[in-house]
Amino acid sequence: MTKLSERHIWSKLQQHYQMIKDVHMRDMFEQDAQRFEQFSLKLNDILFDYSKNRISSETMDLLLQLARDSDLENWIKRMFGGEIINHTEQRAVLHVALRNCPQSGSEPMTIGGEDVMPEVCGELKRVKQLAESVRTRCWRGVTGQPITDVVNIGIGGSHLGPLMATEALRPYAIRDLHIHYVSNIDENHINDTLETLNPETTLFIVSSKSFTTQDTMVNAMTARKWLLRKIEDESELHRHFVAVTANIEAAMAFGIAEANVFKMWDWVGGRYSMWSAIGLSIVIAIGSENFDALLQGAYAADQHFRHTPFEQNIPVIMALLGIWYNNFFGSEAIAILPYDQHLHRFPAYLQQADMESNGKAVDRDGQAVDYSTGPILFGEIGIASQHAFYQLLHQGTKLVPADMLAPISNFRCIAEHHRALMSNVFAQTEAMMKGKTRDEVYAELKATGLNEQEIEKLLPYKIFPGNRPTNTFLFKTLDPKTLGSLIALYEHKIFVQGVIWNLNSFDQWGVELGKHLATSILHELNDLQPVRSHDSSTNGLINYYKANRPLKGG
Ligand code: F6P
Repeated sequence: MTKLSERHIWSKLQQHYQMIKDVHMRDMFEQDAQRFEQFSLKLNDILFDYSKNRISSETMDLLLQLARDSDLENWIKRMFGGEIINHTEQRAVLHVALRNCPQSGSEPMTIGGEDVMPEVCGELKRVKQLAESVRTRCWRGVTGQPITDVVNIGIGGSHLGPLMATEALRPYAIRDLHIHYVSNIDENHINDTLETLNPETTLFIVSSKSFTTQDTMVNAMTARKWLLRKIEDESELHRHFVAVTANIEAAMAFGIAEANVFKMWDWVGGRYSMWSAIGLSIVIAIGSENFDALLQGAYAADQHFRHTPFEQNIPVIMALLGIWYNNFFGSEAIAILPYDQHLHRFPAYLQQADMESNGKAVDRDGQAVDYSTGPILFGEIGIASQHAFYQLLHQGTKLVPADMLAPISNFRCIAEHHRALMSNVFAQTEAMMKGKTRDEVYAELKATGLNEQEIEKLLPYKIFPGNRPTNTFLFKTLDPKTLGSLIALYEHKIFVQGVIWNLNSFDQWGVELGKHLATSILHELNDLQPVRSHDSSTNGLINYYKANRPLKGG
């Protein structure tokens, strides 16, 4: 296929950008009273408003042409068809199969002609059985007491999804069970967690697709030692340790009973794995029915993505808008701004999903790209961010498109809280779109009684350029189904962008170099000898550390 930057549609988009780059959204809205109706879509309980973007119908036509020209339809079929589209690791990419079980009459999903559904549904059943036995206090620890605390030990995809979803669905969680997440190899993380726990009533889930990740293995070992100090008898470990992994032998070698090992598959990428047994801690927290609803929400988004014409296809539109700013406006970042406290880990989750997928500079043909790919994704709770970094979003020199996400009603729905919250959502997207003109600022300052000289001095600081794009997701409430749909919409957005940028979104070679270097440096830290094998900065840092560390524990 012709290189993206050499395609006719690419140059048409570049020309179109020249036409639109100075058009203000204020004017677009003034000229078209139907803009919201034209540029908003619905998926069940989710409204997606993308009208506050720097687009016209011609922009959308051209972007949709780009999607077609990138053979997107065929790529979607290939992913859902279980083809080996992760070519650098020779793997299929079939996390969508994980959402297929709770659907009545779920269809077969195959890899190499073999239906994966029986195994997927079988594993889901085992996960639910374990979760329910913990929830109903049937699962007992070594001294016969029920489990009160569950600790998921994992990192990256084996951590962020379960943590994010457990926090997001907090109102649905069982009350007398506490779920903890430990990811950092920094001893403070596991020690701070264990400090509060009783080994006799604690269950550890070691979550690691590879079962070789250093951070997870070191933390799991520490947990194992902590437990054995109390229960002494190794043969009782099975009452307190389960694992989720694709490397069953390694989990068993660690001492986890085979019956306590839950399987995942090489065709599930870590950052797409919360739907698999990696979601065990979520199931323990919210129960099987709610987990099914989460899967059903994701399934609804899968069906929407698979079967809806691109013009009304939410993830396709999300992806195209991202490309419009990334590749034509030269925007480097996007902000994810949830106006729902329970979504506070959503930006961190999406950071891995997006940046580990599309943070790549070599295309599927092994060629260096000559266009910008995955953006810097960052975000925080919207309200907190208003008092922190929105200054830059409103008046900085950078164009940062933002996604706002907000529930129409909250779980408890206390009107004075919720309406005030929502007023901020609407105000911020309006302010970002409209800005405040020189004339408006002038009139405002004049009304305060300032003289001309004082007005002239202050005026430039009070102007808001506006024309800052936002997408807004409004959803009925943050229930499991809606959360499932939202996550899957973003997953598919990332996939579409990867297709258009001609990237393999499903490998992550970029994380390897640091891991390898850390392994060899670890050996060098075992003695007090100065090192000379690195550059002067790295040598200097290592040697300073060695010279200054305490004799014990450093
Ligand atoms: O280092 C990156 C990574 O490989 C992620 O892709 C993955 O989600 C994470 O580490 C954890 O890997 P594992 O589940 O194999 O421990």
